[in-house]
Amino acid sequence: MGVLDRRVALVTGAASGIGRATAQSFAREGAHVWLVDRNADGLAQVRAELDGDHHVHQLDVTDEAGWIALANSLDRLDVLVNNAGFGVFRSIADTTLEHWRSIMAVNLDSVFLATKYLLPLLARSTHGGAIVNMSSIRGIAGAANTASYCASKGGVRMFTKATALECAALGNNVRANSIHPGHVATPLTAGAHVSEEDRRALLADTPIGRKAMPEEIADAILFLASDASRYMTGAELVVDGGSTAQ
Ligand code: NAI
Repeated sequence: MGVLDRRVALVTGAASGIGRATAQSFAREGAHVWLVDRNADGLAQVRAELDGDHHVHQLDVTDEAGWIALANSLDRLDVLVNNAGFGVFRSIADTTLEHWRSIMAVNLDSVFLATKYLLPLLARSTHGGAIVNMSSIRGIAGAANTASYCASKGGVRMFTKATALECAALGNNVRANSIHPGHVATPLTAGAHVSEEDRRALLADTPIGRKAMPEEIADAILFLASDASRYMTGAELVVDGGSTAQ
């Protein structure tokens, strides 16, 4: 028996990093997984790694019409993981309005769009729907040269709490929680856009002294998606090797 047996779960950003590890863990735990990403090749690769019956769906998560079409093609949904996102180190002076808006669109608009169009399906879940939104420790604590990322992830944190309260008020049995990783070993943090200096600073700031593996974040997402967290809603789960405990 898996903890997500007979559940349908949708994971955005499933072609890489934390989303990929989450799709793998959900599939192992018995869920039927919808893998969503804009990267079709990456999706196909992850799909090939999974046993069982799962769907891949290419979507730019900022595309409202795309979300409406996806919602219309789903019969049911029990778990939604809004994970797709990105960030780059950039000073406020070097941030253009276009860059600011692109970060907000991918990291925050997407969470609103997915929630707006998929909540009716989650509300019909016989298990009680679960939403897990990907924030970051940068949604709790600021850092230099990350203002737009921090603003977007802080927005995800508060949007999640408001979603949780609205669902409770509606009595629709949907829980919403945010997750706040620290430094995770994924293509996002391994990219050439992260300088050696930034990389060293991130690690120096992590008491456990190493990056998290994507699977370690996926384990926490699985907890928030499953009945093990059934009394949690509007909560923020920090998985950061002690960074924000300092
Ligand atoms: P990643 O770069 O390995 O994976 C991100 C995935 O999102 C990629 O497959 C990419 O194609 C997809 N994606 C990006 N923009 C998209 C769009 N517009 N439409 C559809 N798909 C899109 O990154 P990683 O590290 O796995 O990050 C996942 C989430 O975790 C992000 O929201 C990130 O901000 C968050 N996070 C990551 C941390 C880290 O240290 N890696 C720390 C804290 C939070």
